[in-house]
Amino acid sequence: MKNLTPKGIAFRISLFVAATVTIIVFLAEFFSESIHFLSLFLVFVSSLIISYFSFLVAIEQFIYKKIKLIYRTIHNLKLNKDDALSDFSLDKDIISQVGQEVIDWNQKNKLEIERLKDMESYRREFVGNVSHELKTPIFNIQGYLLTLIEGGLYDEKINMDYLARANKSVDRMIALIEDLDIISNLESGVIEMHIKKVNMVELTQDVLSSLEIKAQEKNIKLTIQNTLNKPVWVMADADKITQVLVNLIVNSIKYGKDGGETKIKFYDMDENILVEVADNGQGIEEKHHKRLFERFYRTDRGRARDSGGTGLGLSIVKHIIEAHQQTINLRSTVDVGSTFSFTLKKIRT
Ligand SMILES: Nc1ncnc2c1ncn2[C@@H]1O[C@H](COP(=O)(O)OP(=O)(O)O)[C@@H](O)[C@H]1O
Ligand SMILES: [Mg+2]
Repeated sequence: MKNLTPKGIAFRISLFVAATVTIIVFLAEFFSESIHFLSLFLVFVSSLIISYFSFLVAIEQFIYKKIKLIYRTIHNLKLNKDDALSDFSLDKDIISQVGQEVIDWNQKNKLEIERLKDMESYRREFVGNVSHELKTPIFNIQGYLLTLIEGGLYDEKINMDYLARANKSVDRMIALIEDLDIISNLESGVIEMHIKKVNMVELTQDVLSSLEIKAQEKNIKLTIQNTLNKPVWVMADADKITQVLVNLIVNSIKYGKDGGETKIKFYDMDENILVEVADNGQGIEEKHHKRLFERFYRTDRGRARDSGGTGLGLSIVKHIIEAHQQTINLRSTVDVGSTFSFTLKKIRT
């Protein structure tokens, strides 16, 4: 009785009923010794027809209506329910069809629940990370203020120093809030991209001059190596690519070694321009490469040094590059150096 349509089921049962009725009538006639084959035939045909239609109506009334209800529930079809059910007919194997629909529906729900669970754990982790990152500067500020309140304010040796340190913690909190703001805007797609023709050499030169003082503090040399020997034109959002370069170069200074060097290079890759930011600093262990672009992810070395970073820089960089439909990569060897490279759409000149 597998994969029978409701009509098929009704017909089989009616056949059975008609045969039974005919046999009973035959036996009755047999014992009263007056067998009429015509009457037996009529009994068979009429009971077949009557029971067939009765069963059909019964199936329609009881089973089909209940199945419709299930179908409607899983598809949430409170409105124009009959449209969606129009391909339901008693000629088809609707029982198996609904069975399959229920299985599909269940599968879809499972995926949806998994997605919601992922989002929920992501949200929880995010809130946890943010409060953890805010704790350090807030407790530091509180410590400095308490010392000042308890008399330190009048101690000329420490008062200005403690105020300056508290101010530095405030700066750190502001940096964190700003990075969070950028991240959440990038992730919710609120940030508009202003893609225009950009001269990468010029833009990079501006970024390097703005970071000159920071680099000098660690005796790090910042250089552009334009092997292409001509202006490098790309289609990009200038402000956002500036941010990408600032984040990568600041990292190369922070995690670079004293007296080191950071080189920015451009390569022609037919459709794209490849931009490389290469340092000869502390490098990054292979095991971190995969997760380095996640928000708040920092290596133990990055953390230990307490560079004042938030661990958000590289995830902002990755978001911006991906918003340009481009990719970013990392090559790095511990104690040798790191090279971050990303592509941008080239303009042929
Ligand atoms: N040029 C680099 N050399 C070595 N380590 C780096 C470099 N750039 C990034 N890192 C590592 O990657 C981590 C994440 O970088 P980032 O997202 O910019 O966060 P942050 O600089 O705020 O710590 C850093 O904490 C550091 O451990
Ligand atoms: Mg950084």
